This record gives sequence, C-alpha cells and structure tokens, in this order.
Amino acid sequence: MAAGIDDIAIYIPRLYIDAADFARARGLDPIKLQKGLGVSQMAIVDANQDPACLAANACLTIMQKNKLSPDDIGRLYVSTESAFDESKAMNSYVIGMLEQVYGQGAFEHCGGVETKFACVSGSYALYDNANWIRAGEAEGKHALVVVSDIAKYDMGSSGEMTQGAGSVVMLLNDEPRLLEFDPKVTATSIKDEYDFYRPFGKETPIVHGQYSNLLYMIQVRKALEAYKKKVISSGLIRLKPDETILDHMDYINMHLPYSNMGKKALAYLVRHEWRQLPRWKKILEAIGMDEPRPKDPRGTIESVLADDEFMEKDHEFTKMFTKTKEYQEVYESKLSSSLIASSMIGNLYTASLYLGFRSSLEFEYQKGIDLAGKRVGFGSYGSGSSAMVFSGVIQPEYEQIVKNMNLEVEIGERRRLTWKEYEELHENKLSPEESMLHAKKEFVLVDVQTKTETRGERRYVFNE
Ligand code: HMG
Repeated sequence: MAAGIDDIAIYIPRLYIDAADFARARGLDPIKLQKGLGVSQMAIVDANQDPACLAANACLTIMQKNKLSPDDIGRLYVSTESAFDESKAMNSYVIGMLEQVYGQGAFEHCGGVETKFACVSGSYALYDNANWIRAGEAEGKHALVVVSDIAKYDMGSSGEMTQGAGSVVMLLNDEPRLLEFDPKVTATSIKDEYDFYRPFGKETPIVHGQYSNLLYMIQVRKALEAYKKKVISSGLIRLKPDETILDHMDYINMHLPYSNMGKKALAYLVRHEWRQLPRWKKILEAIGMDEPRPKDPRGTIESVLADDEFMEKDHEFTKMFTKTKEYQEVYESKLSSSLIASSMIGNLYTASLYLGFRSSLEFEYQKGIDLAGKRVGFGSYGSGSSAMVFSGVIQPEYEQIVKNMNLEVEIGERRRLTWKEYEELHENKLSPEESMLHAKKEFVLVDVQTKTETRGERRYVFNE
C-alpha cells in the first residue's frame, strides 16, 4: 500500500527580530548573519504562545482546509524538542485545543504520542505513521504528524543568531496528492553524542556549534551511504558507473538550523559522492588545487577541528568547489528554493526540514516547472545524534495543493520587534495577557498554573 504526504500546512509566529537589528545590538557585522549564515529574520513567539498552540494552530488550518472531521484522523503525532512536561505528551494539549473547536471527546479514538530526538524526531514520526498506513492499520483514516518548536538559545551565545519558531503539519494517507514515500529505502545513522542537548529544567540548549556542524554532515553522509545500499539492493534506482545517487534526486531537502547549513551540507555530500567519479578530475582541474586531507585522516571530530591548517585549506577548497559551474547547477536546481523560507523565519528545529520542503514546492512551482514525478531526497538530522535519509516522488495531483501556496500570506502580517521587546520576550518577562499581538482565529495560551497542587497546568483559548 502507498503512503505519503497528502497536504502540508504551517503556523509561523508573526513577531520577528530582524537580522540587521540583531547584529547592531550584538555588535556583529550584519553580513555575517545575512550572507554567512543566511539569516534575514527570526520568528519569535509572543508571550501567549508555546509550542503546543503553534502545533494546534497548524492542525486546525489543515483540517479546515481539507474539511476533515476528527473521525477522519486515526493518529496525531507531535514531534518536538521544546516539551514543557516530562510526562504529559504534547498531543494531549493539542487535542484539548482542537476539541474546543470540534467538541469535547471528538478526538477520543485518535491515538498518538509525542516523539523526541532533537530535530530528527519528526522524520521518525513520519516513517512510523507511513508504516501504520502501509500495514493497513489506518483503515482509510489519515494521520497528522505535526512538528513544532521554539529554537531559543542563551542571550549572547553564538547560537542566538540561529533562533526561530514555528510549526508544520503533514497530513498522511494512502492516496497522497503531494508526495509518495519510496518504500524500503529509509536509512538511519545514530551515535551517542553531545553536540547539542538540553538537560532537564534548562530552557536553552548547551551547544558545541562547530562540532555540531561537522557531526551533522558526517551523520547524514552515513545515513546516505545506508540509503544508497537500500536503493540499489531494492532495485528502486539503477546506478550507471559514472552516476551518484544524488543525480537521481531532483530535489534535495536538508535539515536547516540556519539556511546556509543546507548549503554546507549539500556541498559536503556532493563532494563525498563525486570524489569517486570520473567527473571529479575535471572539478579538481577547475579548482586548481588538490582536496586537502587532515593531518590525521582517521582522527576524531575534535582533532579535525583543531587542525587549523587543514580547516583553513578545506574552507578555501569548499569555497572554490561551490563556485564551480557543476556544483552551482546542483545547488540552484535541487536545493536553493528550499532555503528561502528558512532565511525569512529561522530555525524551527523539528520543523525546519519540512518548512524547507514546503518552500521548495512553492518556489520551484513558481518557476513554471512541472513537479510531477520528481524525486525528492530528505536529509534529516537531530543532535545527540541521529540522521535519517529517505525519499519520495511528487504525485500527479500535486498542483491542487501547490498552486495555492503563498508563504507570505500564510504567515500573515508580521511585526518587527524592537530590541527591548525582543529582550523582554526572551527573558520571559511578560505574562500571557501582556502579549504584543491580539491573535484572531487562533489558539493562545492564557495561563500556566503555579500553585503546588496544579503546577504546570496550562489553559488555552481559541480567540474568535
Ligand atoms: P559562529 O561560530 O559564530 O560562526 O556561529 P562562524 O564563525 O562559523 O561564521 C558563520 C559563517 O559566517 C561562516 O561561513 C563565516 O565565514 C561567515 P562559512 O565559513 O561557514 O561558509 N562570516 C561572515 N561572512 C560575511 N561577513 C562576515 C562574516 N563573519 C563570519 N563579517 C554557529 C555559527 C552555527 C556555530 C552558531 O550559530 C551555533 O552554535 N548555532 C547553533 C548550533 C547549530 O545550529 N548547529 C548546526 C548543526 S547541528 C543541528 O543542525 C542540530 C540542531 O538543529 C539542534 C537539533 O538537532 O535539535 C541545532
């Protein structure tokens, strides 16, 4: 049985901090954010928003748009790394909110859990729900997988330039109009790591930034190797001697903690794949230098990062590689459209990869390209750490969904925060009733209980 993404909807907070304002306040060169990281604006949650209400807002949009009733939904999974409870799953909160609109008990038989593995957990949730459908357990019902996060880093840390917030929901079923997943090729890699983690009780993560960048690329490459083996052994794709698996992906979507991480990761993967092929000789000739090797090629990530001479040369080599006509063609045609939303919104942790997919559909369609039959590859990464590589094919009915996509309209009118407002929100100085915007037709948080016997209970309303 087929399984895939039938429709996709987003909810993005309308407050944002502009990269130029951020750079000015932190004494940074704005070009570092805009060109170096690909960050133009970062969405920031209002005082009456949390990851559960972002998720509920996205779910309501997709249900209303598709005229679905709660009976049509067999499963609702929430993937997040911004959880605020160690026990109660975020889907409970989301269902509680949706039942304010659909009636109490309306979702009584809708199963689901909250999944956690940093930014990759949404991909695991998609895979598990696709398999629920493939197994015939769905019995004609749909699954909702909602990825929702607030990417918030310590004030003054280098991660603070890569914040953002938002939610993406995907409707899955056995007759998907948007994308059908390729069966039996999903591949993973996993390793116990401390590149980025958030210990109990801490609101912001502990991050080893450069380490995390390199680990991300290594883990995705390992998952890609495993994907390649599966694709070849399953007969899904036949590789000619001078081809790489990436040649068979029309689009490549990467996890985007910041937009330029997608560029970095693509260049790394393409280099790795092309190195084995006859075309590499021509590329090296165009670059005019040999590919640098670390002093200790079998060393650790730490030893590679500490090898200043190698890091400098490798940086230079990568820059020249990414300027070659051959790489530019891959970048422009397969990745670039997926980065547009990320640079406008910032990091959405679990939702970043799927916002990128959404962005790629909208902006590739706008180029007048017929997307039907195109294969999309996904490179998902979660710190801690695990990667997942999988793929799917855009379906003939895709146009029904994609022709109406309009990121700016879907975000709505945005408000640029002043630095003082940003600081107040970041430091949680405002209570929900002091929110900066008055949300309409949205779920908002009204209260978090502090009394001992009810501590942590959250109340939400749907603002008419
Ligand atoms: P940094 O170390 O301050 O930045 O923070 P940098 O020095 O690496 O500079 C960034 C880029 O800007 C570089 O470009 C510079 O050259 C350039 P690149 O060399 O990479 O091409 N640059 C400039 N360009 C123009 N004009 C200038 C200028 N100055 C510098 N004046 C870092 C960057 C990403 C490390 C930091 O923001 C951070 O720690 N972020 C959080 C961690 C993160 O996002 N890691 C990504 C991989 S791990 C991951 O994706 C998982 C995650 O999503 C969490 C999860 O899974 O749950 C984070």
